[in-house]
Amino acid sequence: MRTPLIAGNWKLHKTPREAVAWFTDFRAALADHPHDRIEVALGVPATHLPGLAPLAGPAGVALAGQDLSRHDDGAHTGEIAGAMLADAGATYVIVGHSERRADHAETDAVVRDKVAAARRAGLTPILCIGEVEAERDAGRAEAVVLDQLRAALDGLEADADCAALVVAYEPVWAIGTGRTATADDAQTMSAAIRGALREARPALADDVRILYGGSMKPANAAELLAQADVDGGLIGGASLDVDALLAIVDAGQAAA
Ligand code: 13P
Repeated sequence: MRTPLIAGNWKLHKTPREAVAWFTDFRAALADHPHDRIEVALGVPATHLPGLAPLAGPAGVALAGQDLSRHDDGAHTGEIAGAMLADAGATYVIVGHSERRADHAETDAVVRDKVAAARRAGLTPILCIGEVEAERDAGRAEAVVLDQLRAALDGLEADADCAALVVAYEPVWAIGTGRTATADDAQTMSAAIRGALREARPALADDVRILYGGSMKPANAAELLAQADVDGGLIGGASLDVDALLAIVDAGQAAA
């Protein structure tokens, strides 16, 4: 019913030329790793899209931007609009990553506007939500995560836009730390997210993919991806390594 999505998030790594060299190796190796039951995507800096697009399409790998402007155009120095990402080859865009919420003071209102901007550009938003450790310790993880979700859903009025959403549950304390949520915790939160989606859009909740992100790696991917409401992964560090990403692709295919 839901096609699992294995998506890398390269963050601020590699130059455009290094990206092309990496992808050339990845594409050659991917041919020996069946992935017909899943989707594979790579979130890269916008500068890398033009070089990767001609390679990624034939390899059946989708490309994602890592952020976009909430504006479509205008006097916004340094911003990159959704239409620019789409024209450069992206079909997805990561929105509201915790690193942007923390480093760039991205509020729920900004994230809501960015999700809407992504849909105006025809991009599929990968909406990142997740609690920090203090919120989990205080027993507020679910409330925080669902508030972030509901705020973003306010930016999506049309059913078609909501159906196109991908949600990534990324507990902030698990990102880049080597600590991973247990499979049970990932499933419990993903089920809560789907429950909130069902309240908001009863007909669509079962179509929305919910990814887990936070130190996903070959050693834990299979268990996380086996959970009923975990429909894929958003992978940071491990997605920089061809063999590690391929092992997670294998885990996704096996779980699908
Ligand atoms: P790591 O896999 O490096 O923990 O990063 C996860 C992440 O932030 C993906 O968006």
